[in-house]
Amino acid sequence: MGSITSIREVARRAGVSLGTVSNVLNRPEIVAEETRQRVLQAIEEIGFVRNGSARQLRAGRSQHIGLVVLDVANPFFTEVARGVEDLANERGYVVILCNSDDSTEKESHYLHVLTEQRTQGVLITPVQSDASYLQQLRQRGTAVVLLDRPSRSKDLCSVSVDDVRGGELAAAHLLQQGHTCIGFVHGPLTIRQCTDRRRGVLKAVKAGGLDPDRAIIDITTRAQNAREGEESVEKLLSAHSRPTAVFCANDLLALGVMRGLIKRGFSIPGDMALVGYDDVEFASVLATPLTSIRQPKYELGRAATELLLDEADNPITHKHQHIVYQPELIVRASSCL
Ligand code: RIB
Repeated sequence: MGSITSIREVARRAGVSLGTVSNVLNRPEIVAEETRQRVLQAIEEIGFVRNGSARQLRAGRSQHIGLVVLDVANPFFTEVARGVEDLANERGYVVILCNSDDSTEKESHYLHVLTEQRTQGVLITPVQSDASYLQQLRQRGTAVVLLDRPSRSKDLCSVSVDDVRGGELAAAHLLQQGHTCIGFVHGPLTIRQCTDRRRGVLKAVKAGGLDPDRAIIDITTRAQNAREGEESVEKLLSAHSRPTAVFCANDLLALGVMRGLIKRGFSIPGDMALVGYDDVEFASVLATPLTSIRQPKYELGRAATELLLDEADNPITHKHQHIVYQPELIVRASSCL
């Protein structure tokens, strides 16, 4: 509801009571058409704009949902966010975007603000592997869905991709190309996506009958971006046994590794085969198109939003779900001679 003075001005100009103005704003179906039109005209003439926060408070919940991702500058999350916002917009909701930047402090601050703002629900890619702290939001009436993260809890919806399978597909592909020593460049193993992809690599190497200690060269980066990928090249080339192929935990890391190798005169895939993860837009248009593990990014965002809005709108009848999509190996020039 707007300020009382401006509502009073609308009522005076339209020649109706304050209650009638409120009904036109909140329950127009009970107001006679002629009266409703007179009030709407007065609103137009005065330029009255209702105050959303007061209306939210009275209604008890806002028409907002929160989206907390690690970094929206990562094209993976950009496409996920597009899927979220398209469906939210169709349903009349506004999305509040928050970047946690892998920081538990930043994530916690945003969750506090979103709770204060009485958002209908929160979609979150948690920084920490253990997301049980998110139950507190649900206890305060804020619906929560884990995005890009499987849930271990039966009463917390989640939408994710089988990252163990994704890592296995990448490593098996490189083994099939004849590689027996694979560099795995990834962010901190506190990030669930990295640990699961690493488990997939290990599974494929063991299935190939190789000794994991010799077949996998782990390179841990501080973050999962192109700069960190480029800086990891020196470590790859000075490893105790030189890999002939590199699998990166996401396409941004792979882009950086590609840049670092080319700067040093290495050919891809001749000197070093390369596989990324996410299959973001640029993967297919690089000078050497990047082999990558495709994640259904847009669908992830829409599916998570669908679950969130159902829980928010139907808290009694809502049935929690754990949706797991399958990744897909997209083979391009960067890994095949
Ligand atoms: O940590 C970020 C990565 O995890 C993204 O690139 C995407 O792969 C997500 O699953």
